[in-house]
Amino acid sequence: MTVKTYTAMVVEEMEKNHFSRSITTKTVDQLPDGEVLIKVCWSSLNYKDALSASGNRGVTKKYPHTPGIDASGVVEESRSDAFQPGDKVIVTSYDLGMNTSGGFGQYIRVPASWVVPLPAGLDLRESMIFGTAGFTAGMSVMALTDSVPADRGEILVTGATGGVGSLSVALLAGLGYSVTAVSGKKEAEPFLTGLGAKKIISRDDATVGQDRPLLKGIWAGVVDTVGGEILASAIKATDLRGIVTCCGNVASPDLPLTVFPFILRGVSLIGIDSQNCPMEHRRKVWQHLAGEWKPTQLSDLCREVTLDGLESEIEKILGGGQTGRVVVRMDT
Ligand SMILES: NC(=O)c1ccc[n+]([C@@H]2O[C@H](COP(=O)([O-])OP(=O)(O)OC[C@H]3O[C@@H](n4cnc5c(N)ncnc54)[C@H](OP(=O)(O)O)[C@@H]3O)[C@@H](O)[C@H]2O)c1
Repeated sequence: MTVKTYTAMVVEEMEKNHFSRSITTKTVDQLPDGEVLIKVCWSSLNYKDALSASGNRGVTKKYPHTPGIDASGVVEESRSDAFQPGDKVIVTSYDLGMNTSGGFGQYIRVPASWVVPLPAGLDLRESMIFGTAGFTAGMSVMALTDSVPADRGEILVTGATGGVGSLSVALLAGLGYSVTAVSGKKEAEPFLTGLGAKKIISRDDATVGQDRPLLKGIWAGVVDTVGGEILASAIKATDLRGIVTCCGNVASPDLPLTVFPFILRGVSLIGIDSQNCPMEHRRKVWQHLAGEWKPTQLSDLCREVTLDGLESEIEKILGGGQTGRVVVRMDT
């Protein structure tokens, strides 16, 4: 019997703490056990992928390894009644691309409990324009819009040109919210206004009042993707009963704050963890993204590369230089 081969990015530790990436041929029998074998058509690049691809042991413990926390494709074999060969599916998060061979390979094999049927309203490529970044934006927007109506006031989105940030701007603007975007990229204004942002402020303007416990309450809600001083200032400037979501730490994992925004203004800080999101909630978020929340500018939000083109994109995202999303065409 011939064993099926496929192309994948492989990250190897060449000597202690020195990693190298290559595009290599692997065989399907090297994949981990799992009920569903999926031929990957599209993947996408997230900040976490860049960490895994550069040897970050907080994300990936064992190398050699194929990163890629996102994949969409077609079921080729299934030992689960829930999925049949030919089904179009999405897999994001859980352990995919962390310590399980990921979407930067043309095949993945995963437990059926990680697999989401492609919802009506999305094609496989569009699902990866969202990917984990869009799914996380969707979770953040759902947490915020559940409690803050669009007429309550302005919403601040930080790290606004990044994957989670740009999709949060697009989703919120599409739902009728007035969005102020924080960006470190001076040239980003046309991109962000094109997504529907009403105002753009610099990172410096977003970190005023570091020595004060509270600032004038101007935000009805905040979607934060960066942490650190920017998140702290955003919380201090959130108005009564405002909702702040927090998902990332590209600026810093620290949060220099007092309890005053919470006990004097009733501000809520909601943690967003897409990796362990329960399947019922996961499907609900995907339904929103595929349906009434789907941004009209979705395709403008991404650039397309193949595995060969990923190298420079990985360096760019590590340096905070990405704008929007990068989708990876896997069927070439
Ligand atoms: N909790 C979860 O489930 C979850 C899921 C997905 C992602 N995340 C996390 O969310 C964060 C964003 O992910 P992503 O995929 O959107 O990354 P990304 O595409 O690289 O976007 C991050 C953006 O943050 C801004 N930024 C970068 N460095 C910064 C700094 N030093 N200070 C302030 N802003 C900075 C940049 O936007 P501007 O230039 O426009 O400012 C950058 O484009 C990461 O920490 C990621 O690990 C968490």
